[in-house]
Amino acid sequence: MIALKRFVLLACLALPAQAQPQAWGWDDGTVPYVQTPMEIVERMLRMAEVKKGDHVIDLGSGDGRIVIEAAKRGATGLGVDLDGNLVKLATKNAKAAGVGSQARFEARDIFETDLTPASVVTMYLLPDFNVKLLPRLLKLKPGTRIVSHDGSIGDWPSDEKLEMRAPEKPVGVGGVSTVELWVVPADAGGTWTSEMPDHGGTWRFRVRQKYQMLDIDTSAQGRDLLVRNSRLRGEELKIVVTGVVNGHAWHHYFVGRIKGERVSGDVTISDGNVRKVLPWTATRAR
Ligand SMILES: C[S@@+](CC[C@H](N)C(=O)[O-])C[C@H]1O[C@@H](n2cnc3c(N)ncnc32)[C@H](O)[C@@H]1O
Repeated sequence: MIALKRFVLLACLALPAQAQPQAWGWDDGTVPYVQTPMEIVERMLRMAEVKKGDHVIDLGSGDGRIVIEAAKRGATGLGVDLDGNLVKLATKNAKAAGVGSQARFEARDIFETDLTPASVVTMYLLPDFNVKLLPRLLKLKPGTRIVSHDGSIGDWPSDEKLEMRAPEKPVGVGGVSTVELWVVPADAGGTWTSEMPDHGGTWRFRVRQKYQMLDIDTSAQGRDLLVRNSRLRGEELKIVVTGVVNGHAWHHYFVGRIKGERVSGDVTISDGNVRKVLPWTATRAR
């Protein structure tokens, strides 16, 4: 309780005069207004590789700093916040920064905001709040980047995570901020079949998926092969397979993009002496 009061007090101290808070705190499930320090904003946008062509949606946009910095990098952006005073402040700040036409702000509840136009979603909320967003975030277009300052998203493991010193942050422990990136994974689960007449004939990849984590069994010519590694990042699928194919031990590096029920890319096959690259396509049988 002491910690809660301290949090709210410090959050209030961080506010600009024109945007006084309601008495938000941890106990009623809402998220108070606390600013992300500018160097953390910078890091979040770098981690998400925000650039021209991106559309960034900041969930709970405060004074607009994340969307404004994204707009300075050529992106368009939308910030939503429950607090109308903060929305006015953010709109004013965007105009002052010369990005008024690219950065929009709306007084809106996050849960009533359409997230589907986003290529990047940013947030500085509370983990209990983030977990409620998880089902909607997972349904965004594969490849959509989500960056969170100091907040995990349920049991979804992040793709990248870093800790940074943030001495001027008014809340949290020890002036340290955690920044995490998630890339919305494509649906990769199921059995994929691939025909490579000159190399193993019919290949099968049985894929079990949880978030971006894959568990894969592979066979060619009816023989099981060893899956040494796999990675799914957005639509990009990589699988490393070794084993005997056509009577010879080979190393295989499959790289492809998942588009619906089809993967297309190539496979690099090597044995230490010979190296060849073949086209690779696979289709899914559910
Ligand atoms: C911790 S602040 C982050 C502000 C800004 N994104 C930043 O990083 O500097 C969280 C913001 O979320 C807003 N907020 C809390 N619950 C919300 C909700 N349900 N819908 C919209 N905004 C909300 C608060 O008003 C507050 O401005």
